[in-house]
Amino acid sequence: MSDFKKIISILKKDNNYRKRISTESPQDSSIKVSGKILNNFSSNNYLNLSNNKQLRTKLKNNIDIYGIGSGASPLISGYSTAHKNLENRITQLLGFESTLVTNSGYLANVGLINAISEKQITIFQDKGNHSSIIESSRLSKTKLIRYKHLNYKDLELKIKKDKSPIKIIYTDTVFSMTGEQADLVKLSLIAKQNKSLLFIDDAHGFGVLRENKNLFPSSINGLNLDKIKVDAYIGTFGKAVGTFGAFICGSQELINILIQKSKPYIYSTALPPALVQTTLESINMIMGDKKIVDSLHSNIAYFKKLTNELKININNSDTPIQTISIGNPKTVMDICNKAKQSNIFIQGIRYPTVPRNQDLLRINLTSGHSKKQIQSLVEFLNKL
Ligand SMILES: Cc1ncc(COP(=O)(O)O)c(C=O)c1O
Repeated sequence: MSDFKKIISILKKDNNYRKRISTESPQDSSIKVSGKILNNFSSNNYLNLSNNKQLRTKLKNNIDIYGIGSGASPLISGYSTAHKNLENRITQLLGFESTLVTNSGYLANVGLINAISEKQITIFQDKGNHSSIIESSRLSKTKLIRYKHLNYKDLELKIKKDKSPIKIIYTDTVFSMTGEQADLVKLSLIAKQNKSLLFIDDAHGFGVLRENKNLFPSSINGLNLDKIKVDAYIGTFGKAVGTFGAFICGSQELINILIQKSKPYIYSTALPPALVQTTLESINMIMGDKKIVDSLHSNIAYFKKLTNELKININNSDTPIQTISIGNPKTVMDICNKAKQSNIFIQGIRYPTVPRNQDLLRINLTSGHSKKQIQSLVEFLNKL
């Protein structure tokens, strides 16, 4: 492991070496890269709020009210009325007993399992789960059992066989790399039948998905929480909400335990209150103006219609994450470079983010894309 040069040369040889691209403009439906304006299909800024004019003004005002930094971790003096108000608003919108605002989605997952970690716990995870969920188990004392991706028969086999006194099923709701959705009704049933808890990470569903327009968009929107038993719900602010940070919802007891025991929560400087207050304002904007979410769904439908008409092989997804399987890291990166020549910014997803030979092109749609931008993307994909 200490032969750094060798590690890097292997990554390069396997076409799995990552390079960062520095953008030169705010995050928006078009971005500037190397002096060139590109149509941006590679961001989780689903509602196009991260450069929203009204929210930018609010953040500036909030800095005048709250200052810049939070100055301390939440249990010292970093927890402000802004944090408290945001927690209360999310609790009210999602219908859980309590909420804890955390510094990021990654830390929400790691901090959740860190706080409850015990040897008697077995965590059952979908093989397609996000790295932060997998690491949350690996960094803890709990036992990790992974079931085949979206294969609930495999989960049932494994959960029934296991003799641990405490079981937790933990899943992405919208899988971050494929846009596929977990079946929460089914998972809740399996959890109930096997006396297991159910933890869900809705990073890509919060602010995005909805059956009922009067409720806040999320993967649990429209589900009856009296019937569907969700014991912990994680959401992030860095994606649809357009700001930064994350949260965990659950019972009053769970949130109290996190405050007492979650090391990433206790020992890290709290989010800046001005940003937290802006997050609350962004959430209120999403709730108040249904057109923001409507235009995202209209763009998803438009993209699917065009690709369907041209018989472009898109993997099945009803979410803003749309993918094309390529299966080779070099080919996928060559396509991304070619896309730039057509003024399109898309990213290839390679091992280890996806399993080997399942490299894919990941296209993220947002409410900010114009129909023309989507047409030019589809024209490019059609030429592949
Ligand atoms: C399912 C899932 N959970 C957590 C995260 C991390 O969230 P954050 O960017 O807030 O750390 C991501 C980010 O891509 C994700 O896809």
